[in-house]
Amino acid sequence: MVGGGEGAYIGNIHRIAARLDNAWDLVAGAFDVDPQKGRAFALSQGIAEDRAYGDYTALIAGETLRQDRVDAVAICTPNFTHYPIAKALMEAGFDVICEKPLTATLEDAIALEELTRVSGRFVGVTYTYSGYPMVHEARVRVANGEIGKIRTVQVEYPLEWMATAIESQGNAQAAWRTDPTKNGRGGSIGDIGTHAYHLAGFVTGLKLDCLTADLATFVDGRALDDNAHVMMRYQGGARGLLWSSQVALGNSNGVRLRVFGETGSFQWFQEQPNELVYAPLDGRVQIIKRGAGDVSEDARQRSRTPPGHPEGYLEAFANLYAGFAEAIRARRENRAPGVLGQNLPMAHDGLKGVAFVEAVVDCAESETPIWITPVAI
Ligand code: NAI
Repeated sequence: MVGGGEGAYIGNIHRIAARLDNAWDLVAGAFDVDPQKGRAFALSQGIAEDRAYGDYTALIAGETLRQDRVDAVAICTPNFTHYPIAKALMEAGFDVICEKPLTATLEDAIALEELTRVSGRFVGVTYTYSGYPMVHEARVRVANGEIGKIRTVQVEYPLEWMATAIESQGNAQAAWRTDPTKNGRGGSIGDIGTHAYHLAGFVTGLKLDCLTADLATFVDGRALDDNAHVMMRYQGGARGLLWSSQVALGNSNGVRLRVFGETGSFQWFQEQPNELVYAPLDGRVQIIKRGAGDVSEDARQRSRTPPGHPEGYLEAFANLYAGFAEAIRARRENRAPGVLGQNLPMAHDGLKGVAFVEAVVDCAESETPIWITPVAI
């Protein structure tokens, strides 16, 4: 692992998720921007002293020399560091699991995706919400035509933790997220709008045609948007509406997706992730439960407990890790991956996310409302 040291947020989620299904062992790391702190943290995590590295270049140099070198490296650092770290790892022959957004700039995202093709390396992107079993259930059922042709998609990701200027009060996570040089051009839209955009495309299979957007910054002095409204036109005629907000008081992690087709709709809410609501044309609304007998193989293989025992965020993240392990193993064994190793978020999805953010910010910065087609769709 690179990043995710003492006091960091997502690194610990990766550590739990990676180990939940015994898919991975954490054996080496450069966990902190401060080399000493990073090494001390590594030791506290039970990592051997000779694999507790001061920075990612030392990790690459050290691991390259070992017979038992790491299989992949998880990048859990702020956005602007993803590209140089991923590039160096891929050029040294390592597979990568990278946090979203894939990079802080479109230029870097294009270069990174290109490098995956040239190097043949595996690059998984941790779009968390595509790990949930009932999100897969919705994807399978939409693909099976259960709601007919899609008319409209409503997706939102409201958060509340940045409703005041916590970036100037010592909050490390908020500080880099509001600094365009470290975060990239899109504030809420880059941080969480990318999740919502990926989720909507993942479930519906729809490809974006073009978008128009309105960004707002409600907290005084903040350099980036903290609220975004995006209208989307999908290829084939479906319409979409995406809302991301870091200032939506009362919403802890309110990711919500609603997909409306000609013969029914699906609704999924991440704070009740074990249920998928299906409303067919006849008005008999159904709740499809995770773990129930009639769910798809895609959902079943991503569940561990019977219905009623809740599974959530950590298990969804673990499904991504189990999937990355299966995909990497299958590639080595020259076979097709099993269910878990399919439909994973990869570098191209990461590039699409960054291109989406760029298009949204371009729209918002233009004087008159315009519709923009992102460079990668
Ligand atoms: P954070 O600020 O809590 O942690 C960043 C960590 O990276 C710190 O330990 C810092 O010392 C370390 N670091 C910084 N530069 C480094 C370098 N060059 N080498 C080694 N370590 C370095 O940040 P947070 O909130 O954990 O976010 C990290 C990444 O994860 C971001 O890209 C963010 O967008 C993404 N994220 C993804 C989530 C998801 O749902 N998939 C949720 C939260 C964050």
